Amino acid sequence: GKSGYDHYMRKEITEQPRAIRDCLRGRIEELGATVSLPELEELESPSAVQFVACGTSYHAGLFGERLLQRRGIPAQTFVASEYDADQLPVDEETLVVGVTQSGETADTMRALRGANRAGATTLALTNVVASSAARECDHVLYIRAGPEISVAATKSFASQQVTLSLLATALAETADPSSSASREHLRELRRLPDYIQSVLDDSNARSVAEAFLESDAYFFIGRGYNAPVALEGALKLKEITYRHAEGFPAGELKHGPLALVTEATPVFAVVSSREKTSATIGNVTEVQARGAPVVAVTDSPETVGSHADFVLEVPETHPAVMPIVANVQLQLVAYWLADALDRPIDKPRNLAKSVTVL
Ligand code: M6R
Repeated sequence: GKSGYDHYMRKEITEQPRAIRDCLRGRIEELGATVSLPELEELESPSAVQFVACGTSYHAGLFGERLLQRRGIPAQTFVASEYDADQLPVDEETLVVGVTQSGETADTMRALRGANRAGATTLALTNVVASSAARECDHVLYIRAGPEISVAATKSFASQQVTLSLLATALAETADPSSSASREHLRELRRLPDYIQSVLDDSNARSVAEAFLESDAYFFIGRGYNAPVALEGALKLKEITYRHAEGFPAGELKHGPLALVTEATPVFAVVSSREKTSATIGNVTEVQARGAPVVAVTDSPETVGSHADFVLEVPETHPAVMPIVANVQLQLVAYWLADALDRPIDKPRNLAKSVTVL
């Protein structure tokens, strides 16, 4: 059941600290310096990684790609329906990772089967034990989010991001066993459940959402590690509120979307105090010059927040952990806006939880 919540989506948002603890259990070694993923013992270190996924899982792939690239591992993400292993440089040293909560998404399965045929090594990153993806890939890594009922993917996205963080660290350790750069990252991953709990306990996302009930459109921007979360914030909002929303890497705004920005289009800006801060604040200033209200999702309410009309605060943490927390604020904005608009949150029109047609 919904354990007293009005919607499964709210229950699943609230379950994220526990889902992440389950995901991490036994996977970071005692001293907190290395990752242990026994499932991947037989996996050779790949020369390149390709992520294939759809929707929210595609956004997780974009995050995984950034994690790997910063560790010097070539990585690329594909919308699964656009992926064609025959047109790409793929061999047995290429690791193709299907990111799929259900493990049954037809587009993702088609891409993975093509990768298998082309001789790639395949890995399913999935929530569902013995799903098609788990059965048909060479390797499986479970995200351990627990059952997700709401059509909107919430806790599964958090668990995907955490699992990808572990995978990236594990692959980097294989590439360079002396690497200890990930120590802070792993420590902050272990603190992540508490960070998310503090957001769940103190979030003002409901009043922010209610300040923008009648907007023309909702825009989301973020850079680097936070760019995928901007896309995800927009997807979640459009999916459950039926309002127009778009997400962009912050620097892209001025290349077109800025023409749509008015007083009636709030801009949600995810701004880290530790990475590319001044560039993103520059983008915030651009939209404010067009009269748009700005909601900053930030770990630095004093410096960044002073540029914004509203602040959704997140704890200060490692730059690769921040997007996982920031996303929770955006989930709550979408949820409370949909609730105020009285939408059927758990079953949006035209959508299915598992898309098993091509
Ligand atoms: O089960 P999958 O992760 O393969 O599903 C992929 C998408 O259909 C899914 O993430 C979809 O975008 C979400 N329901 C959006 O909230």
